[in-house]
Amino acid sequence: MRAMAWIFGYGSLVWRPAFPAVERVPAALAGWTRRLWQGSPDHRGVPGAPGRVATLVPAADARVHGVASRVEPNALDDILSALDIREQAGYARHDLPVRLRDGRRVEALVYVATADNTDWLGPATAEAIAAHVAGSHGPSGSNAEYVRRLHTALAELGHPDPHIAAVVAALDAADSPARPTTGDNR
Ligand code: BEZ
Repeated sequence: MRAMAWIFGYGSLVWRPAFPAVERVPAALAGWTRRLWQGSPDHRGVPGAPGRVATLVPAADARVHGVASRVEPNALDDILSALDIREQAGYARHDLPVRLRDGRRVEALVYVATADNTDWLGPATAEAIAAHVAGSHGPSGSNAEYVRRLHTALAELGHPDPHIAAVVAALDAADSPARPTTGDNR
């Protein structure tokens, strides 16, 4: 059994951890960046019409912010079994070094989906991602809610994510009514 058990969340785990923790601490993972490139046929979409959810991709000079949760080591197996079910499509667990906001450095379990999984959707412009997200819904709710909640939670942590913020801006632009015309064609 591990003496310390940490799980690093960078997606829905930031705002909906759904498991008991001894402590939760804002944290960062160097060398990775967050992207809405993973398909979700089971939570924010459905088979045949998957939503888009967060994964991590390597990025040498980047840092991804999220929340690290320390869990009771003897509860870890049950928590991971539940997370494996909750996050079933395409993710694999990795042990990665995470820096906590208070300066501690810990090894944490991180779920990462890579391009070789069958639900991978990959890169697209912020506008294309927003259009996809706006039309996707699944058993866990709307894909737009997922993106907006993630954006708000990261902003509250003090680390808004530019990729997520760009998609939210594109969602907002698509939501806002067209500018009224004056009827004056001069
Ligand atoms: C998360 O960190 O929120 C997370 C992302 C993908 C799969 C599992 C957890």
